[in-house]
Amino acid sequence: MKRIAMLGSGFIGRFYADSLQGQRSKDKIVMIYSRREEAAQQFAKDYQCEHITTDMEAAIAHPDVDVVCISLPNNLHEPAVMLCCKHKKAVITTKPLGRNAAEAKRMLEAVEAAGIFNGYLEDLVYTPKFIKAYESVKNGALGRILWAKSRETHPGPHSDWFWDIEKAGGGCILDLGCHCVEITRSFIGKDIKPVEVMCWADTQVKPIDAEDHSIGLIKYENGAIAQFEVSWTFRGGLDLRDEVMGTEGTIWINNFLRTGLEMFTTGKGADYVAEKAESNSGWLFPVGDEINDLGYNHMFTDMFNSMEKGVEPRETFYDGYIVNAVLDAAYKSAKTKQWEPVILDIWRGQTGLSKESHLINYDDNYYLVKEEVTHYGAKKVILKNKATGVIEEKILE
Ligand SMILES: NC(=O)c1ccc[n+]([C@@H]2O[C@H](COP(=O)([O-])OP(=O)(O)OC[C@H]3O[C@@H](n4cnc5c(N)ncnc54)[C@H](O)[C@@H]3O)[C@@H](O)[C@H]2O)c1
Repeated sequence: MKRIAMLGSGFIGRFYADSLQGQRSKDKIVMIYSRREEAAQQFAKDYQCEHITTDMEAAIAHPDVDVVCISLPNNLHEPAVMLCCKHKKAVITTKPLGRNAAEAKRMLEAVEAAGIFNGYLEDLVYTPKFIKAYESVKNGALGRILWAKSRETHPGPHSDWFWDIEKAGGGCILDLGCHCVEITRSFIGKDIKPVEVMCWADTQVKPIDAEDHSIGLIKYENGAIAQFEVSWTFRGGLDLRDEVMGTEGTIWINNFLRTGLEMFTTGKGADYVAEKAESNSGWLFPVGDEINDLGYNHMFTDMFNSMEKGVEPRETFYDGYIVNAVLDAAYKSAKTKQWEPVILDIWRGQTGLSKESHLINYDDNYYLVKEEVTHYGAKKVILKNKATGVIEEKILE
């Protein structure tokens, strides 16, 4: 059993607590740190925590605490991580790791210098649908991955600090794009280097300094392309969708709005439906088990199993740093309207890749372009003559 200090008793702190202490979990939140004593007391009551405090360092340093789980606003991730390094406590932190790559790099270097366990809590690469899709991709069911797209849009976050560019570090690009970058990067291959970003961003609706809508493209060194679509102005709930396209196949994932469970109600007796649902009457799309379907259970299982085995989890601070570096390039591109390089002072994957050969041999003289059976029963092949470059078609018997 691991004894956890939860830093922050808000939205994600409670989702995490529901996952950590749900079902028959053996790990236990023994300490809650919150700014306000009443909030800490309520959390301690709801999750049966032994200790409460309004002093962050006291929570981290407490001898009963093995692991610190950071569920604080983005501007507090770095100070909290530095205290974990000081007190040599294992640390797992919510996304985004930093408000920018410079902060993320400092955190990565600090945890590695301190020699402490570090986990990056990117739940959306642990959803049951993602895990199944990812296994298929790794087993080659989609061939060479050409394009991966991830979309996260909703009507905007639930707390004041998200809307304050200084505290949050950015708008929807940072808040939601961090998920999309890690999802698409995982499908393309985490050892493939992201090299350039082109991004459009604007503040179309909200009275804020940050962007509330953005679309971006990320080029990878092997020629693959990733795409993110993020918004704080989308109406209709939380739209979480991914698409992957490879030379041998395609995957479409819908995590939230169309999961196969559809319900109509006049609203009588209606209550909470799902995260960011905008209505609780009419036709609704409830989510079967949000904690599990959002990946929290599989994520914490990986984190705590890895901690016990003394190995790295699937998502570490290094991954959080790469994500921040990609998003820094996105912000720069949104300003310059140019492709901007991803600046990676630390890179541990492959280097020097180029677009892999994509030509399929048909025979000694031809490459295959395409084959098809038509509605009138002909089997056709389109071929490219290797010597002349001429495109020809053949009808097969
Ligand atoms: N799916 C996800 O992974 C996911 C979802 C939501 C939020 N998050 C992340 O979780 C973090 C917290 O977001 P949230 O949605 O829980 O926010 P929240 O506002 O609901 O909760 C934040 C918590 O931090 C505390 N806090 C706020 N300002 C503080 C300060 N100055 N000093 C000390 N404590 C302070 C609040 O009291 C609260 O307990 C953010 O980094 C956010 O990006 C992740």
